[in-house]
Amino acid sequence: MDGKSLAVAIFCAAAGMAVAQPPAGQPWMNTALTADARADLVQAQMTRDEELTLVHGFLGTAFAPGFRGNIPNWIRPYLPGSAGFVPGIPRLGIPPLNESDASLGVANGNHMRPGDTAVALPSSILTAASWNTDVAYAGGAMIGSEARNKGFNVLLAGGINLMREPRNGRTFEYSGEDPLLAGVLVGASIRGIQDQHIISTIKHFALNDQETARTVMSSDIADADARESDLLAFEIAIEHGDPGAVMCSYNRLNRVYACENNYLLNEVLKQDWAYRGFVLSDWGAVHSTVDSANHGLDQESANGFDSQDFFGEPLKQAVALGAVTPTRLHDMVHRILRSMFAKGLVDHPPGKRPIDLDSDLMVAQRAAEEGIVLLKNANNLLPLPVKPKHRQTIALIGGRADTGVFSGGGSSQVIPIGDSQSSEILMGGAVTVIQGQPWQIPKQTIVLDPPAPLDAIREESGNARVRYDDGDDIASAVDLAKKSDVAIVFARQWMREGIDASDLLLFGNQNDLIEAVAETNPNTIVILETGGPVVMPWLDKVSAVLEAWYPGNRGANAIARILFGAVNPSGRLPVTFPAAESQLPRPIITGQNPIGRTIATYGTPTAYDVIYSEGPNVGYKWFEQQRTEPLFPFGFGLSYTTFAYDGLKITGGRTISASFDIHNLGDRAGKATAQVYVKPPVGASRLIGWSKVDLGPGETKHATVTADPRLLALFDSDANLWRVEDGDYRVTIGGSFADKAAAAVVHVTESTIRP
Ligand code: BGC
Repeated sequence: MDGKSLAVAIFCAAAGMAVAQPPAGQPWMNTALTADARADLVQAQMTRDEELTLVHGFLGTAFAPGFRGNIPNWIRPYLPGSAGFVPGIPRLGIPPLNESDASLGVANGNHMRPGDTAVALPSSILTAASWNTDVAYAGGAMIGSEARNKGFNVLLAGGINLMREPRNGRTFEYSGEDPLLAGVLVGASIRGIQDQHIISTIKHFALNDQETARTVMSSDIADADARESDLLAFEIAIEHGDPGAVMCSYNRLNRVYACENNYLLNEVLKQDWAYRGFVLSDWGAVHSTVDSANHGLDQESANGFDSQDFFGEPLKQAVALGAVTPTRLHDMVHRILRSMFAKGLVDHPPGKRPIDLDSDLMVAQRAAEEGIVLLKNANNLLPLPVKPKHRQTIALIGGRADTGVFSGGGSSQVIPIGDSQSSEILMGGAVTVIQGQPWQIPKQTIVLDPPAPLDAIREESGNARVRYDDGDDIASAVDLAKKSDVAIVFARQWMREGIDASDLLLFGNQNDLIEAVAETNPNTIVILETGGPVVMPWLDKVSAVLEAWYPGNRGANAIARILFGAVNPSGRLPVTFPAAESQLPRPIITGQNPIGRTIATYGTPTAYDVIYSEGPNVGYKWFEQQRTEPLFPFGFGLSYTTFAYDGLKITGGRTISASFDIHNLGDRAGKATAQVYVKPPVGASRLIGWSKVDLGPGETKHATVTADPRLLALFDSDANLWRVEDGDYRVTIGGSFADKAAAAVVHVTESTIRP
């Protein structure tokens, strides 16, 4: 393609205009045909150079300048600030791919342009804590529509790496530790995105479960163990969401880089799961031309982050020499085109349209209201009274609650809607506030999402006297707490891509601060804004704890509405909270340097390899196997009412069906999440399903959960199939993994399932 036609195509896409109308005689524009047929028809017209164009992406404007990449400078202004860019084929009506990060909103942290804000959704782990597919779908649809209106047509979303490592800097971008919960929720969010005519990825494929040494470490795990855990999460999410693309990850899997891993990409994804979309690489995850192409990579995403161009010219030569066959190149391109047609990119180009802020902010607020988890509520301190006779005095302490709520850092960073883009330098150092909207958010910058909890709490409380102390000086905070009826301490743990935490402690003086405030004021409430689990040495001393994760652009409102009872909390933990790092399979993260934090980037693979000796037993399965008590179990969360589960009836045979009653015993409406777990004759217990129901005071509802037989099975690698053992399976229902409200045993017959 010549430079002029490339520029025209890019300009049209960026300006929201349909790419030049195809002349008559372009049968692939017939929307009545299947995506495969349309891809075949257009491919028949493509030259080899055009095919090579579609498999070779450039670093988007988000990362330039400063990186290698050859989008001509004069084209850049026409592109949205994006993570990646793949030119289209204008003469055939094939638009370019404009890719944005989008785990938690349309990301713009790397490439802020004046006015380019987006609604920040809560972190994905919060969405997982909602246990509600409608919440996940709505979040995806919101991001998808904002992305369209900004000119993007590919979203680098769908993070689903299981939480094998709670200190992982990206735990907040993922959906917890259980393959079913994560798979179903991430699948729903991908559907939401793609219903807006956008391709969503699912990422990072696979076993990219820690940030330490992420670009060199090898995740070493047996095939069956991976199939029953991390790969099962991807498998379920792909079935539920049908993402147009899969992003292969930085790490090596059993010593072979994920983006050139034949087992992972060809055998598991494309053969066993019959995946029809395309595989694109993470930014800088490609290490070869021939192996990558032949082992399943379909598109090199961002040449400027890889150590050299691997597709582009080198791939052209490899095809000319026969090291990569023209048939394989054809397959790579077919997959890309198929997804573009199937997801509506060709027929429904994105356009620059205004964003409906109010409705998008409400999506973020509803998610936060369903995913914040009440962990402790001694003497029913919560909800706090609204406008009590005696005017309450409330001390808000710490967590920059006068400014906003915390968000996680890295490529998913969203610069949120609101006036107060603020930042704080890591680890309690000097505080810097970024005025206005920066072009480039420095890596160590924390972005706080407005509004401020202080404002939201003032508003929600009715007439309370709410005062704020930043908590830096414990004596001053204690003094305020002493003079107040209630003390609310905002505690935070800032996490970001690229770095794992060295421990699960709140940093700085926060644990001491909470202890001191709790000693002074018996009505101490802790609000946690964390990426994932933290340990709580002060738990016995405080009255209430609310896990708010990173609650997004309306997080403060959601927190306030829960505190004062406008919302009855219904989030449930999608991860186990350990009592100490010593309970983890790896008390110290493999590869961390003595200072505790490290990121190895490019280099010779070394002793960073992690042996996942816990196998498929991630999270609660590990705790069961070790017979250790965590701080809070998987699935746990309190409500302002209480629930009971009984009347369990189960049927066995090929699979298990459990039906039961869920009662609201209290006089306040609330949402119960009844969880069904099964312990097979061999292997760990597993979640086979759940039912989240809204119950009025005193109401009872009936629910039925039927297991996907793969959840009862073990994977047989030799035969390459799932095997359900004949035997007695124990079924429990309750409000968390630890709550066995009702139990029964059922016989299941032997069967096998092909993946
Ligand atoms: C991250 C991906 C992201 C990409 C583009 C990488 O560093 O791992 O999740 O989509 O950058 O920003």
